Amino acid sequence: MFISYLLSPRTCHRFVGYLEEEAVYTYSRIIKEIELGNLPEWSDPKYQIPDIAVTYWNIPPEKRNMHSLMLYVRADEAKHREVNHTLGNLDQKMDPNPFISTYKDNKPHPTKSLENHKATGWELMKLSKPTYHIVLSGISAAFHGSGLNELIPKKVLD
Ligand SMILES: [Fe+2]
Repeated sequence: MFISYLLSPRTCHRFVGYLEEEAVYTYSRIIKEIELGNLPEWSDPKYQIPDIAVTYWNIPPEKRNMHSLMLYVRADEAKHREVNHTLGNLDQKMDPNPFISTYKDNKPHPTKSLENHKATGWELMKLSKPTYHIVLSGISAAFHGSGLNELIPKKVLD
């Protein structure tokens, strides 16, 4: 995988995006089976989910059941899918990471949470005018543009 990533990062991100998507389908199927009562052990109110899961997701007491846990896990997989499909959509050498970029408008943008979630990932042209912060030789420069081919230095930050 490491060598594959060196050869084609976009292909690797796309591949991982599809793997994550399969995980989303798998957890959706499990959730449905729990709801249908086909997994009685996991539907049993006495069934205790692992403490490590409670700690990791900070699950409140009323949601410490397998159905809720599967919703938490599926949400994580959905985010992994979005991130990898987005990175698979971008030019690996030119495009900034849109999940850590800052934006000057109020339009929906990629976030680190499930807010503004896009299952197929974000396309660069739909990312309106991000401000790119790039560190070059110890100098942090801000670039502003509607596309990566339009990167124009606006100012140099301290
Ligand atoms: Fe994942």
